[in-house]
Amino acid sequence: MNDFNVYEVLNRKRRGAPMESREIEQFIDLYTRGDIPDYQMSALLMAVAINGMTTAEMATLTQSMLRSGEQWRLRDEYDFIADKHSTGGVGDKVSLVLSPWVAACGIRIGMLSGRGLGHTGGTLDKLEAIPGFNARLSRPDFERCLKDVGCVISTSTEGIAPADKKIYALRDVTGTVESLPLITASIMSKKLAMGASALVLDVKTGSGAFMRLYQDSRALALSLIAAAEGSGTRVEALITDMDRPLGVAAGNANEIIETFEVLKGHGPADVQEVTRAQAERVLVMSGRFDEKSANLKLAETLESGAALECARRWIAAQGGDPAVIDDYSLLPQPRKVLEVKAPQSGYITFIDTYQAGMFTVDLGAGRKRADDVIDYAAGVLFDRKSGDAVASGDVIARIQLGDRARHQSELTARFLSFVTFGDEAPEAKPLIHEHLK
Ligand code: URA
Repeated sequence: MNDFNVYEVLNRKRRGAPMESREIEQFIDLYTRGDIPDYQMSALLMAVAINGMTTAEMATLTQSMLRSGEQWRLRDEYDFIADKHSTGGVGDKVSLVLSPWVAACGIRIGMLSGRGLGHTGGTLDKLEAIPGFNARLSRPDFERCLKDVGCVISTSTEGIAPADKKIYALRDVTGTVESLPLITASIMSKKLAMGASALVLDVKTGSGAFMRLYQDSRALALSLIAAAEGSGTRVEALITDMDRPLGVAAGNANEIIETFEVLKGHGPADVQEVTRAQAERVLVMSGRFDEKSANLKLAETLESGAALECARRWIAAQGGDPAVIDDYSLLPQPRKVLEVKAPQSGYITFIDTYQAGMFTVDLGAGRKRADDVIDYAAGVLFDRKSGDAVASGDVIARIQLGDRARHQSELTARFLSFVTFGDEAPEAKPLIHEHLK
Protein backbone atom coordinates (compact mmCIF):
# COMPACT_ATOMS: atom_id res chain seq x y z
CA MET A 1 0.00 0.00 0.00
CA ASN A 2 1.21 3.56 -0.66
CA ASP A 3 0.64 6.60 1.56
CA PHE A 4 -3.13 6.18 1.36
CA ASN A 5 -4.44 6.81 4.88
CA VAL A 6 -7.81 5.09 5.26
CA TYR A 7 -8.32 6.46 8.76
CA GLU A 8 -7.83 10.07 7.59
CA VAL A 9 -10.18 9.61 4.64
CA LEU A 10 -12.87 8.12 6.90
CA ASN A 11 -12.44 10.85 9.44
CA ARG A 12 -12.86 13.59 6.84
CA LYS A 13 -15.88 11.93 5.22
CA ARG A 14 -17.48 11.55 8.64
CA ARG A 15 -17.08 15.30 9.16
CA GLY A 16 -18.87 15.88 5.84
CA ALA A 17 -15.96 16.88 3.59
CA PRO A 18 -16.14 15.50 0.04
CA MET A 19 -13.66 12.80 -0.93
CA GLU A 20 -11.16 13.39 -3.68
CA SER A 21 -11.56 11.27 -6.82
CA ARG A 22 -8.24 9.54 -6.19
CA GLU A 23 -9.35 8.62 -2.67
CA ILE A 24 -12.58 7.03 -3.89
CA GLU A 25 -10.73 5.12 -6.62
CA GLN A 26 -8.15 3.80 -4.17
CA PHE A 27 -10.73 2.91 -1.54
CA ILE A 28 -12.71 0.79 -4.01
CA ASP A 29 -9.64 -0.74 -5.57
CA LEU A 30 -8.07 -1.72 -2.26
CA TYR A 31 -11.35 -3.01 -0.86
CA THR A 32 -12.05 -5.16 -3.93
CA ARG A 33 -8.56 -6.68 -3.63
CA GLY A 34 -9.12 -7.42 0.07
CA ASP A 35 -6.59 -4.81 1.26
CA ILE A 36 -9.20 -2.77 3.13
CA PRO A 37 -11.25 -4.76 5.68
CA ASP A 38 -15.07 -4.86 5.82
CA TYR A 39 -15.17 -2.75 9.00
CA GLN A 40 -13.50 0.19 7.30
CA MET A 41 -15.70 -0.10 4.22
CA SER A 42 -18.74 -0.30 6.54
CA ALA A 43 -17.63 2.96 8.17
CA LEU A 44 -17.36 4.62 4.77
CA LEU A 45 -20.78 3.34 3.70
CA MET A 46 -22.36 4.71 6.85
CA ALA A 47 -20.63 8.08 6.42
CA VAL A 48 -21.91 8.22 2.82
CA ALA A 49 -25.41 7.12 3.84
CA ILE A 50 -25.52 9.93 6.43
CA ASN A 51 -23.64 12.74 4.65
CA GLY A 52 -24.41 11.90 1.03
CA MET A 53 -22.06 12.53 -1.88
CA THR A 54 -21.62 15.29 -4.40
CA THR A 55 -22.50 14.42 -8.00
CA ALA A 56 -18.78 14.29 -8.80
CA GLU A 57 -18.08 11.87 -5.91
CA MET A 58 -21.01 9.69 -6.92
CA ALA A 59 -19.86 9.60 -10.56
CA THR A 60 -16.32 8.61 -9.47
CA LEU A 61 -17.71 5.93 -7.15
CA THR A 62 -19.76 4.51 -10.06
CA GLN A 63 -16.74 4.51 -12.37
CA SER A 64 -14.50 2.92 -9.75
CA MET A 65 -17.00 0.15 -9.07
CA LEU A 66 -17.47 -0.43 -12.78
CA ARG A 67 -13.70 -0.63 -13.33
CA SER A 68 -13.37 -3.22 -10.55
CA GLY A 69 -14.35 -5.86 -13.11
CA GLU A 70 -14.97 -6.66 -16.76
CA GLN A 71 -16.16 -4.00 -19.18
CA TRP A 72 -18.00 -5.54 -22.08
CA ARG A 73 -18.39 -2.34 -24.17
CA LEU A 74 -21.02 -4.01 -26.34
CA ARG A 75 -21.69 -0.67 -28.06
CA ASP A 76 -18.33 -1.08 -29.84
CA GLU A 77 -19.50 -4.36 -31.39
CA TYR A 78 -22.88 -3.34 -32.73
CA ASP A 79 -24.29 -0.29 -34.53
CA PHE A 80 -26.74 0.04 -31.69
CA ILE A 81 -27.51 -2.03 -28.64
CA ALA A 82 -30.09 -1.13 -26.03
CA ASP A 83 -30.41 -1.93 -22.35
CA LYS A 84 -33.29 -1.38 -19.94
CA HIS A 85 -33.46 -1.36 -16.17
CA SER A 86 -36.29 -1.16 -13.67
CA THR A 87 -35.82 -0.04 -10.09
CA GLY A 88 -38.24 -2.82 -9.16
CA GLY A 89 -41.87 -3.29 -8.36
CA VAL A 90 -44.75 -5.72 -7.92
CA GLY A 91 -46.02 -7.44 -11.07
CA ASP A 92 -43.34 -5.70 -13.13
CA LYS A 93 -42.88 -7.94 -16.16
CA VAL A 94 -42.01 -5.07 -18.51
CA SER A 95 -38.51 -6.37 -19.38
CA LEU A 96 -40.00 -9.72 -20.40
CA VAL A 97 -42.50 -8.15 -22.78
CA LEU A 98 -40.22 -5.41 -24.02
CA SER A 99 -37.20 -7.52 -25.00
CA PRO A 100 -38.74 -9.66 -27.76
CA TRP A 101 -41.01 -6.79 -28.83
CA VAL A 102 -38.09 -4.42 -29.38
CA ALA A 103 -36.02 -7.18 -31.01
CA ALA A 104 -38.90 -7.83 -33.42
CA CYS A 105 -38.59 -4.16 -34.44
CA GLY A 106 -34.97 -4.83 -35.46
CA ILE A 107 -33.34 -3.33 -32.36
CA ARG A 108 -30.86 -5.45 -30.39
CA ILE A 109 -31.38 -5.43 -26.64
CA GLY A 110 -29.39 -7.18 -23.94
CA MET A 111 -29.89 -7.09 -20.19
CA LEU A 112 -27.82 -8.26 -17.28
CA SER A 113 -30.67 -8.53 -14.87
CA GLY A 114 -31.29 -9.23 -11.21
CA ARG A 115 -33.25 -11.49 -8.92
CA GLY A 116 -36.04 -10.44 -6.59
CA LEU A 117 -35.02 -7.93 -3.95
CA GLY A 118 -37.12 -7.34 -0.82
CA HIS A 119 -40.78 -7.11 -1.78
CA THR A 120 -40.08 -6.81 -5.52
CA GLY A 121 -40.03 -9.62 -8.04
CA GLY A 122 -36.99 -10.53 -10.12
CA THR A 123 -36.89 -10.85 -13.89
CA LEU A 124 -34.51 -13.82 -13.73
CA ASP A 125 -36.67 -15.66 -11.19
CA LYS A 126 -39.67 -15.24 -13.46
CA LEU A 127 -37.78 -16.54 -16.50
CA GLU A 128 -36.58 -19.56 -14.53
CA ALA A 129 -40.22 -20.62 -14.15
CA ILE A 130 -39.95 -21.69 -17.81
CA PRO A 131 -38.77 -25.33 -17.96
CA GLY A 132 -35.15 -25.49 -19.13
CA PHE A 133 -34.59 -21.71 -19.29
CA ASN A 134 -30.95 -20.83 -18.60
CA ALA A 135 -30.62 -17.43 -16.97
CA ARG A 136 -26.90 -17.87 -16.23
CA LEU A 137 -25.28 -17.43 -19.58
CA SER A 138 -21.56 -17.15 -20.20
CA ARG A 139 -20.53 -14.07 -22.14
CA PRO A 140 -20.16 -16.05 -25.44
CA ASP A 141 -23.66 -17.52 -25.00
CA PHE A 142 -25.03 -14.08 -24.12
CA GLU A 143 -23.58 -12.69 -27.34
CA ARG A 144 -24.71 -15.67 -29.41
CA CYS A 145 -28.30 -15.11 -28.28
CA LEU A 146 -27.99 -11.40 -28.94
CA LYS A 147 -26.74 -12.05 -32.48
CA ASP A 148 -29.13 -14.89 -33.34
CA VAL A 149 -32.34 -13.58 -31.80
CA GLY A 150 -31.74 -9.91 -31.06
CA CYS A 151 -32.59 -10.10 -27.35
CA VAL A 152 -31.17 -11.77 -24.27
CA ILE A 153 -31.60 -11.57 -20.49
CA SER A 154 -29.11 -13.14 -18.14
CA THR A 155 -27.67 -12.76 -14.68
CA SER A 156 -24.68 -10.52 -14.27
CA THR A 157 -21.58 -12.75 -14.45
CA GLU A 158 -19.00 -12.98 -11.64
CA GLY A 159 -16.67 -10.70 -13.56
CA ILE A 160 -19.09 -7.74 -13.70
CA ALA A 161 -18.56 -5.11 -10.98
CA PRO A 162 -17.15 -7.39 -8.24
CA ALA A 163 -16.86 -4.32 -6.01
CA ASP A 164 -20.65 -4.00 -6.07
CA LYS A 165 -21.11 -7.64 -5.06
CA LYS A 166 -18.93 -7.14 -1.97
CA ILE A 167 -20.35 -3.71 -1.12
CA TYR A 168 -23.96 -4.76 -1.64
CA ALA A 169 -23.58 -7.66 0.79
CA LEU A 170 -22.15 -5.23 3.36
CA ARG A 171 -24.89 -2.64 2.81
CA ASP A 172 -27.47 -5.32 3.38
CA VAL A 173 -26.22 -5.91 6.94
CA THR A 174 -25.15 -2.36 7.89
CA GLY A 175 -28.41 -0.49 7.28
CA THR A 176 -26.97 1.38 4.29
CA VAL A 177 -29.10 0.08 1.42
CA GLU A 178 -31.26 3.21 1.20
CA SER A 179 -28.69 5.76 0.16
CA LEU A 180 -29.06 7.63 -3.12
CA PRO A 181 -25.37 7.65 -4.12
CA LEU A 182 -24.90 4.03 -3.06
CA ILE A 183 -27.99 2.85 -4.96
CA THR A 184 -26.92 4.87 -7.99
CA ALA A 185 -23.38 3.51 -8.05
CA SER A 186 -24.62 -0.04 -7.48
CA ILE A 187 -27.11 0.02 -10.36
CA MET A 188 -25.05 2.03 -12.81
CA SER A 189 -21.73 0.25 -12.27
CA LYS A 190 -23.39 -2.96 -13.48
CA LYS A 191 -25.31 -1.31 -16.30
CA LEU A 192 -22.34 0.67 -17.60
CA ALA A 193 -20.13 -2.43 -17.39
CA MET A 194 -22.25 -4.04 -20.12
CA GLY A 195 -21.80 -0.85 -22.11
CA ALA A 196 -24.95 -0.50 -24.22
CA SER A 197 -25.40 2.37 -26.66
CA ALA A 198 -28.54 3.46 -24.83
CA LEU A 199 -30.24 2.61 -21.56
CA VAL A 200 -33.87 3.23 -20.65
CA LEU A 201 -34.55 3.37 -16.93
CA ASP A 202 -37.95 2.60 -15.48
CA VAL A 203 -37.89 4.41 -12.14
CA LYS A 204 -40.89 3.33 -10.11
CA THR A 205 -42.72 5.53 -7.66
CA GLY A 206 -45.44 4.84 -5.08
CA SER A 207 -46.19 2.36 -2.32
CA GLY A 208 -44.65 -0.62 -4.15
CA ALA A 209 -41.45 1.17 -5.19
CA PHE A 210 -38.16 1.42 -3.30
CA MET A 211 -38.62 5.18 -3.52
CA ARG A 212 -42.19 5.72 -2.42
CA LEU A 213 -42.22 9.50 -2.61
CA TYR A 214 -42.29 11.20 -5.95
CA GLN A 215 -39.46 13.61 -5.18
CA ASP A 216 -37.23 10.71 -4.10
CA SER A 217 -37.99 8.75 -7.29
CA ARG A 218 -37.21 11.84 -9.34
CA ALA A 219 -33.97 12.40 -7.46
CA LEU A 220 -33.00 8.78 -8.12
CA ALA A 221 -33.78 9.12 -11.83
CA LEU A 222 -31.67 12.27 -12.11
CA SER A 223 -28.86 10.70 -10.12
CA LEU A 224 -28.84 7.58 -12.35
CA ILE A 225 -28.75 9.77 -15.46
CA ALA A 226 -25.94 11.92 -14.01
CA ALA A 227 -23.86 8.82 -13.19
CA ALA A 228 -23.77 7.88 -16.88
CA GLU A 229 -22.46 11.28 -17.98
CA GLY A 230 -19.47 10.81 -20.28
CA SER A 231 -19.70 6.99 -20.12
CA GLY A 232 -20.68 6.49 -23.76
CA THR A 233 -24.08 5.07 -22.79
CA ARG A 234 -26.97 7.49 -23.32
CA VAL A 235 -29.57 7.28 -20.58
CA GLU A 236 -33.22 8.32 -20.38
CA ALA A 237 -35.67 7.62 -17.57
CA LEU A 238 -39.41 7.24 -17.30
CA ILE A 239 -40.94 7.59 -13.86
CA THR A 240 -43.82 5.12 -13.77
CA ASP A 241 -46.48 4.34 -11.24
CA MET A 242 -46.00 1.61 -8.66
CA ASP A 243 -48.79 2.65 -6.30
CA ARG A 244 -50.69 -0.41 -7.56
CA PRO A 245 -49.39 -3.74 -8.86
CA LEU A 246 -48.64 -3.71 -12.57
CA GLY A 247 -50.97 -5.98 -14.52
CA VAL A 248 -53.01 -8.72 -12.90
CA ALA A 249 -50.33 -11.28 -12.05
CA ALA A 250 -47.64 -11.05 -9.38
CA GLY A 251 -45.43 -14.10 -8.92
CA ASN A 252 -43.32 -16.04 -11.37
CA ALA A 253 -45.11 -18.57 -13.62
CA ASN A 254 -48.24 -16.38 -13.60
CA GLU A 255 -46.20 -13.38 -14.80
CA ILE A 256 -44.74 -15.47 -17.62
CA ILE A 257 -48.30 -16.28 -18.72
CA GLU A 258 -49.23 -12.60 -18.54
CA THR A 259 -46.15 -11.74 -20.62
CA PHE A 260 -47.29 -14.11 -23.38
CA GLU A 261 -50.83 -12.74 -23.17
CA VAL A 262 -49.55 -9.20 -23.72
CA LEU A 263 -47.45 -10.40 -26.66
CA LYS A 264 -50.57 -12.09 -28.05
CA GLY A 265 -52.37 -8.75 -27.80
CA HIS A 266 -54.66 -9.81 -24.92
CA GLY A 267 -52.72 -8.82 -21.83
CA PRO A 268 -53.69 -6.13 -19.32
CA ALA A 269 -53.76 -2.60 -20.75
CA ASP A 270 -51.49 -1.14 -18.04
CA VAL A 271 -48.67 -3.61 -18.78
CA GLN A 272 -48.99 -2.82 -22.45
CA GLU A 273 -48.99 0.94 -21.87
CA VAL A 274 -45.93 0.98 -19.59
CA THR A 275 -44.03 -1.41 -21.87
CA ARG A 276 -44.96 0.49 -25.01
CA ALA A 277 -43.78 3.79 -23.53
CA GLN A 278 -40.37 2.33 -22.74
CA ALA A 279 -40.10 0.43 -26.00
CA GLU A 280 -40.86 3.66 -27.82
CA ARG A 281 -37.93 5.37 -26.07
CA VAL A 282 -35.63 2.46 -27.00
CA LEU A 283 -36.64 2.70 -30.65
CA VAL A 284 -36.28 6.49 -30.74
CA MET A 285 -32.88 6.38 -29.00
CA SER A 286 -31.65 4.04 -31.73
CA GLY A 287 -31.98 6.96 -34.16
CA ARG A 288 -33.86 4.74 -36.62
CA PHE A 289 -37.32 5.86 -35.57
CA ASP A 290 -39.11 8.99 -34.50
CA GLU A 291 -41.98 8.76 -32.02
CA LYS A 292 -44.60 8.24 -34.70
CA SER A 293 -42.76 5.57 -36.67
CA ALA A 294 -41.73 3.84 -33.42
CA ASN A 295 -45.33 3.50 -32.36
CA LEU A 296 -46.39 2.28 -35.79
CA LYS A 297 -43.63 -0.34 -35.77
CA LEU A 298 -44.56 -1.46 -32.24
CA ALA A 299 -48.21 -1.80 -33.22
CA GLU A 300 -47.32 -3.70 -36.39
CA THR A 301 -44.98 -6.20 -34.66
CA LEU A 302 -47.54 -6.88 -31.96
CA GLU A 303 -50.47 -7.34 -34.35
CA SER A 304 -48.55 -9.46 -36.87
CA GLY A 305 -47.34 -11.84 -34.13
CA ALA A 306 -43.69 -10.95 -34.89
CA ALA A 307 -43.03 -10.01 -31.25
CA LEU A 308 -44.50 -13.32 -30.04
CA GLU A 309 -42.46 -15.21 -32.63
CA CYS A 310 -39.35 -13.48 -31.37
CA ALA A 311 -40.21 -14.55 -27.80
CA ARG A 312 -40.42 -18.14 -29.05
CA ARG A 313 -36.94 -17.97 -30.59
CA TRP A 314 -35.54 -16.18 -27.55
CA ILE A 315 -36.80 -18.79 -25.09
CA ALA A 316 -35.45 -21.61 -27.25
CA ALA A 317 -32.08 -19.83 -27.60
CA GLN A 318 -31.75 -19.71 -23.80
CA GLY A 319 -32.59 -23.41 -23.49
CA GLY A 320 -36.25 -23.00 -22.51
CA ASP A 321 -39.18 -24.92 -23.92
CA PRO A 322 -40.99 -22.53 -26.30
CA ALA A 323 -44.06 -24.81 -26.26
CA VAL A 324 -45.03 -23.03 -23.00
CA ILE A 325 -46.27 -20.16 -25.16
CA ASP A 326 -49.08 -22.32 -26.53
CA ASP A 327 -49.55 -24.59 -23.54
CA TYR A 328 -49.47 -22.88 -20.15
CA SER A 329 -49.95 -26.24 -18.40
CA LEU A 330 -46.23 -26.85 -19.06
CA LEU A 331 -45.47 -24.16 -16.47
CA PRO A 332 -45.52 -24.86 -12.72
CA GLN A 333 -49.18 -25.02 -11.65
CA PRO A 334 -50.72 -23.84 -8.37
CA ARG A 335 -52.03 -26.67 -6.18
CA LYS A 336 -54.90 -24.60 -4.94
CA VAL A 337 -56.44 -21.22 -5.65
CA LEU A 338 -58.17 -19.17 -2.92
CA GLU A 339 -60.64 -16.49 -3.88
CA VAL A 340 -60.63 -13.19 -2.00
CA LYS A 341 -64.04 -11.52 -1.98
CA ALA A 342 -64.93 -7.86 -1.49
CA PRO A 343 -66.34 -7.42 2.05
CA GLN A 344 -68.41 -4.40 0.94
CA SER A 345 -69.70 -2.62 -2.13
CA GLY A 346 -68.05 0.55 -3.42
CA TYR A 347 -64.57 1.07 -4.84
CA ILE A 348 -61.11 -0.20 -4.18
CA THR A 349 -59.38 3.03 -3.25
CA PHE A 350 -55.86 1.77 -2.48
CA ILE A 351 -53.74 -1.37 -2.50
CA ASP A 352 -50.64 -1.03 -0.35
CA THR A 353 -48.33 -2.42 -2.98
CA TYR A 354 -45.37 -2.95 -0.65
CA GLN A 355 -47.61 -5.17 1.51
CA ALA A 356 -48.92 -6.90 -1.61
CA GLY A 357 -45.32 -7.62 -2.63
CA MET A 358 -44.40 -8.98 0.81
CA PHE A 359 -47.53 -11.13 0.75
CA THR A 360 -46.43 -12.61 -2.57
CA VAL A 361 -42.92 -13.23 -1.21
CA ASP A 362 -44.42 -15.00 1.84
CA LEU A 363 -46.41 -17.29 -0.46
CA GLY A 364 -43.02 -18.49 -1.75
CA ALA A 365 -42.81 -16.41 -4.93
CA GLY A 366 -39.77 -14.51 -3.61
CA ARG A 367 -36.89 -14.97 -1.21
CA LYS A 368 -36.46 -13.69 2.34
CA ARG A 369 -32.97 -15.13 2.55
CA ALA A 370 -30.51 -15.53 -0.28
CA ASP A 371 -30.72 -19.34 -0.10
CA ASP A 372 -34.55 -19.56 -0.09
CA VAL A 373 -36.00 -21.72 -2.85
CA ILE A 374 -38.62 -20.06 -5.08
CA ASP A 375 -42.04 -21.63 -5.44
CA TYR A 376 -42.65 -20.73 -9.09
CA ALA A 377 -46.36 -21.58 -9.05
CA ALA A 378 -47.15 -19.32 -6.07
CA GLY A 379 -48.49 -15.83 -6.57
CA VAL A 380 -51.49 -13.55 -6.69
CA LEU A 381 -53.90 -12.51 -9.42
CA PHE A 382 -55.23 -9.02 -8.73
CA ASP A 383 -58.54 -9.26 -10.56
CA ARG A 384 -59.58 -5.83 -9.30
CA LYS A 385 -57.34 -2.92 -8.53
CA SER A 386 -57.44 0.64 -7.23
CA GLY A 387 -60.22 2.60 -8.90
CA ASP A 388 -62.34 -0.46 -9.72
CA ALA A 389 -65.98 -0.57 -8.59
CA VAL A 390 -66.89 -3.71 -6.65
CA ALA A 391 -70.06 -5.27 -5.27
CA SER A 392 -69.94 -7.05 -1.93
CA GLY A 393 -68.92 -10.68 -2.56
CA ASP A 394 -67.18 -10.01 -5.89
CA VAL A 395 -63.91 -11.88 -6.33
CA ILE A 396 -61.21 -9.22 -6.18
CA ALA A 397 -58.16 -11.48 -6.15
CA ARG A 398 -57.05 -15.08 -6.45
CA ILE A 399 -54.26 -16.38 -4.24
CA GLN A 400 -52.30 -19.12 -5.98
CA LEU A 401 -50.78 -21.61 -3.59
CA GLY A 402 -47.81 -23.69 -4.65
CA ASP A 403 -46.23 -26.49 -2.70
CA ARG A 404 -46.14 -24.85 0.70
CA ALA A 405 -48.99 -25.35 3.14
CA ARG A 406 -50.73 -22.17 4.35
CA HIS A 407 -53.54 -21.28 6.70
CA GLN A 408 -56.12 -20.29 4.16
CA SER A 409 -58.36 -18.07 6.28
CA GLU A 410 -55.34 -16.14 7.54
CA LEU A 411 -54.25 -15.54 3.97
CA THR A 412 -57.51 -13.99 2.82
CA ALA A 413 -57.69 -11.85 5.99
CA ARG A 414 -54.14 -10.68 5.48
CA PHE A 415 -54.85 -9.85 1.85
CA LEU A 416 -57.83 -7.71 2.83
CA SER A 417 -55.72 -5.91 5.44
CA PHE A 418 -53.76 -4.09 2.75
CA VAL A 419 -56.70 -3.26 0.50
CA THR A 420 -58.74 -0.12 1.25
CA PHE A 421 -62.36 0.24 0.18
CA GLY A 422 -64.40 3.43 -0.02
CA ASP A 423 -67.63 4.83 -1.36
CA GLU A 424 -66.04 7.05 -3.95
CA ALA A 425 -63.65 6.31 -6.76
CA PRO A 426 -60.11 7.54 -6.00
CA GLU A 427 -58.60 10.16 -8.25
CA ALA A 428 -57.29 8.50 -11.42
CA LYS A 429 -53.48 8.58 -11.62
CA PRO A 430 -51.37 8.32 -14.76
CA LEU A 431 -49.15 5.28 -15.28
CA ILE A 432 -46.34 7.30 -16.84
CA HIS A 433 -45.49 10.29 -14.68
CA GLU A 434 -42.47 11.88 -16.30
CA HIS A 435 -39.82 11.46 -18.97
CA LEU A 436 -36.32 12.66 -17.98
CA LYS A 437 -33.12 12.78 -19.98
N1 URA B 1 -30.55 -2.54 -7.21
C1 URA B 1 -29.18 -2.62 -7.18
O1 URA B 1 -28.59 -3.28 -8.01
N2 URA B 1 -28.53 -1.97 -6.21
C2 URA B 1 -29.15 -1.23 -5.27
O2 URA B 1 -28.50 -0.65 -4.46
C3 URA B 1 -30.56 -1.14 -5.31
C4 URA B 1 -31.23 -1.80 -6.31
